[in-house]
Amino acid sequence: MSSNQDQTHRGDPPRSGREGKDRVVIFDTTLRDGEQCPGATMTFEEKLEVAELLDEMGVDIIEAGFPIASQGDFESVQEIARRSKNSVICGLARAQTKDIDVCADAIKPARQGRIHTFIGTSPLHRKYQMSIDEAEVLSRVTASVTRARSYTDNVEWSAMDATRTEVDFLCACVEAAIKAGATTVNIPDTVGYATPDEFAALIRTIIERVPNSDKAVFSTHCHNDLGLAVANSLAGVGAGARQVECAVNGLGERAGNAALEEIVMAIRTRGDAMPFWTGIDTTMLTRASRLVSRVTAFPVQYNKAIVGRNAFAHESGIHQDGVLKHAETFEIMTPESVGLKESSLVMGKHSGRHAFREKLKELGYELGDNAFEDAFVRFKALADRKKHVYDEDIEALVDQEIASAHDRIKVVALTVIAGTGGPQKATITLDIDGKQHTYESTGDGPVDATFRAIKAIVPHEARLPLYQVSAVTEGTDAQAEVIVRLEDGDKTVTGRGSDTDTMVASARAYVSALSKLLARGARRKPETMLSAG
Ligand code: KIV
Ligand code: ZN
Repeated sequence: MSSNQDQTHRGDPPRSGREGKDRVVIFDTTLRDGEQCPGATMTFEEKLEVAELLDEMGVDIIEAGFPIASQGDFESVQEIARRSKNSVICGLARAQTKDIDVCADAIKPARQGRIHTFIGTSPLHRKYQMSIDEAEVLSRVTASVTRARSYTDNVEWSAMDATRTEVDFLCACVEAAIKAGATTVNIPDTVGYATPDEFAALIRTIIERVPNSDKAVFSTHCHNDLGLAVANSLAGVGAGARQVECAVNGLGERAGNAALEEIVMAIRTRGDAMPFWTGIDTTMLTRASRLVSRVTAFPVQYNKAIVGRNAFAHESGIHQDGVLKHAETFEIMTPESVGLKESSLVMGKHSGRHAFREKLKELGYELGDNAFEDAFVRFKALADRKKHVYDEDIEALVDQEIASAHDRIKVVALTVIAGTGGPQKATITLDIDGKQHTYESTGDGPVDATFRAIKAIVPHEARLPLYQVSAVTEGTDAQAEVIVRLEDGDKTVTGRGSDTDTMVASARAYVSALSKLLARGARRKPETMLSAG
C-alpha cells in the first residue's frame, strides 16, 4: 500500500495500457434516486442543468427519472433524452407493462436510451409489498424484461433488496432476466445492510453460478444506511461488477447512495489496489457537487471526502508545514484533480468587464449577454461594499443570478428595523411582472417581518419547512447565503439569495422560491398567487 505514491501520483493523468475489461461504467442516479429523497426535489430547469453537467463530465449513463411517477418526471426525462450528447439516458420502470411503455416513450428522443426495470425479490418484499410467490416474481421478471426489450436492446434489470434475497432464488431471477434479454443486471443493497465482504461474495457467487452471466454487465447499487455504500460498491467491482450506480454528493433515499465523487476518486487514486478506470473528467467533480448542492439546497458536509470544504484544507501547523515543503506529505490527490481552484483575491472594485468575464470563464460559467450584464452590476455593487471579493463570492452571486433569471418577482428595496427595542419592522418593495408593490409589516424578528411583508404582497398558503443561513466566505463582511424551501401541497421549491446583508439575502431567497412556486402553480391557477398582489 505504501508504494502507491510511486505508481499513482496525486492527480496524475490516466494510466496507459488500460483494457476494456477494467473499465467501470458510471451510472448516475442523482436525478432519480437522489431526487426522490425528501426535500431534494428539483425543478425542470434544474434537472436539465444537472443532466447537462453530468453528460459533459463523462457520466456513462444518466438515470434521468421515473417517467410513470408524474407528468413532470416524464417531461424532464424526455427533455434530458432530447438534449443528451454523450450519455445514455435511462428511465426507471416497475415490472409493469404501463410503466415500461411510458418509460420507453420518455427515453425515445435519446441518441442512446436504456429502460431500467426492477422488482423486489426478497422474502420481505414478496410477502409484504407484493403478496406474490417466487414463481410469480420469476414470471414478472421475464415478462418485464421481454417487454422492455421490445423497445430497446439496452435493458437493465434490478433485483430490489437483492442482499436480503435467498441466493438460490436470486440466481434464478438473474438467469431469467438475462435469458429474457437484460444486458445489465443490477444487484442493489437497497437497505444498506451488507458489509463489503458479504457484498463481494454475493457478486462473485452470482457471476460464478448463473450459467448465462457472461451475457450481462453486473452492477452495484449500494445505499449508505451503515455508511458502507462506497466500500460495498468498490468491493462489488473487485468481485466482477463493472457498473456502479451512484449519485453526486451521495444523494439518495434515506442516508443516500454511494457518492459518485468518492467512487471515481478512489478508483483513480488507488489504482494500485483497484486496477480499474472510469471515463469521468474528475476536474468537474467540485462543480458537479456545488451545482447539486445548490439546486437541492442540501449542504455538503464540511469534512465530506473529495468535495467537502475542508477536504483539502490543512489547519494544524505540522500539516501546513509538511504541505508547504512537499504536498504529498499530507495530500493523496491534488485539489486541481477534483477541479478545486485556490480561492484567490484577484477581483476587486477596479476590475472591469473583461476581467469579470475571464473570471467567470475560469469558474466554469457561460452567461448570455443580459445575464452577464446583470451579474456584472451586482459584482460591482458587491465590490464597493466588500473589501475582498473571493471566487466563492462570485459563484454565489452568479448562481443566484442564474437561479432567479426567470423569476417574475424581484426585490427592489428593503428597509428593516431590528434590535432589542422591537417591534421589528420591514418595508419591502417588490417588482412583479414590471409593476412595483410596497408593504410594511412588523414581525417576530426582522426575518419574520420581511417574510410577512412579502406574503402580504403575494398571499399564498405555502409552508416554510427550511430557512437556512450560511456565510459564503470568512469575515464579518462575508456574504450571507440564504436558502428557503417552500411547500405547497405536492410542490416543493427552493430559493437562494446572497448578499452582504442577511435580510436582503433572506428576502431574495424567499422571493425566488415564491417565483418558482408561482411558475409551477401557474400551469393550473395562474391568478391565485398574484390576485391579491
Ligand atoms: O435501492 C434500490 O433498490 C433501487 C432500485 C429501484 C434499483 O433504487
Ligand atoms: Zn436505490
